[in-house]
Amino acid sequence: MIDERMAEAINEQINAELYSAYIYYAMASWLEDQGLGGMARWMKAQTQEELFHADKFFDYVCERGGRVALAGIEGPPTEWESAAGVFAHAYEHEQYVTGRINDLMSLAIELEDYASVNFLQWFVEEQVEEEDNTSTIAEQVAMVEGTGQMLMLDREMGARVFTPPASGEED
Ligand code: FEO
Repeated sequence: MIDERMAEAINEQINAELYSAYIYYAMASWLEDQGLGGMARWMKAQTQEELFHADKFFDYVCERGGRVALAGIEGPPTEWESAAGVFAHAYEHEQYVTGRINDLMSLAIELEDYASVNFLQWFVEEQVEEEDNTSTIAEQVAMVEGTGQMLMLDREMGARVFTPPASGEED
């Protein structure tokens, strides 16, 4: 049975993952409106990834005998000054999420909840990837925005498809 404090913290994280999905969905809408359909598609894939993260936490709480209690999701921002600003924000947001995952890990260690330590390890690794992806893209977009290369980057980014890790790989 999962410790109540751990279950509550993970419930808050489920909300944070859903909020992340909401931010990226809002970014997709803004990019689409700017005629950057490829980047919008990239953000939609990112949205799906966040929903997958929320669901992974959901299943874990249930598996440990806890209860998922969903709360309201804060409204996301809706305006950005530039595409580079959108991706810089995404990178900043991922750094914030990493801080949250680290806090969850600290709590699991404090509670000597080694099942949660083991479970959270996947997210620790995932955040390294999330920060790397968003910072690389943010740099690339900042480099080409306002030039003819922007259309090429948009087309390239449109190829991204979210594929959930095969069962067994994600644990
Ligand atoms: Fe759920 Fe992008 O971290």
